[in-house]
Amino acid sequence: SGPEAARLVASRVLDVPDFPKPGVLFKDLMPLFADGKVFREVIDGIVAYHGRDTFDVVVGIEARGFVVAAAIAYATGVGVVPVRKAGKLPRPAHSVSYALEYGEATLEVHEDAFTAGHRVLVVDDVLATGGTAEATLDLVERAGGTVSGFTVLLELGFLGGRERLAPRPVHALLTV
Ligand code: PRP
Repeated sequence: SGPEAARLVASRVLDVPDFPKPGVLFKDLMPLFADGKVFREVIDGIVAYHGRDTFDVVVGIEARGFVVAAAIAYATGVGVVPVRKAGKLPRPAHSVSYALEYGEATLEVHEDAFTAGHRVLVVDDVLATGGTAEATLDLVERAGGTVSGFTVLLELGFLGGRERLAPRPVHALLTV
């Protein structure tokens, strides 16, 4: 259930002060990934929320999103498309850049990543400011995919990511 999934996420997230830079409280979900029973329950919870036949492919956002995406894909028998940081993909790719507090970041996806009309479930571990997610959703659409949903394990509600992505729906197992 939703409350049970939220409790599981809350039980396996570690707060790391001053990472990756001073003043940032990093939410580390690696303890959740490392606990096989909890990881499986969390993945099953995401699949149950969206339903088994509501997407044709899963997009995972580098790097922790890859872990979540691969598990959902395996559980449902669909494929995985990685959205990667700039310069990592070997073949022609679409790029979207977005502003960070200092500087900018670029995400990329292969131009041939999606079959026309395929429904794409986009997943990541954490939604913070929403810059990463917004760029990824733009990339998927630019590459010809149709976004069917966006899910994270943990949403930092006070950073406004959900509002930034509106009106696109955001699903989070746990919002803090
Ligand atoms: C983290 C997290 C999300 C993103 C969320 O990734 O896994 O992808 O930040 O932040 P935002 O909502 O403010 O854009 P990170 O940049 O640490 O990349 P990594 O997983 O490759 O370490």
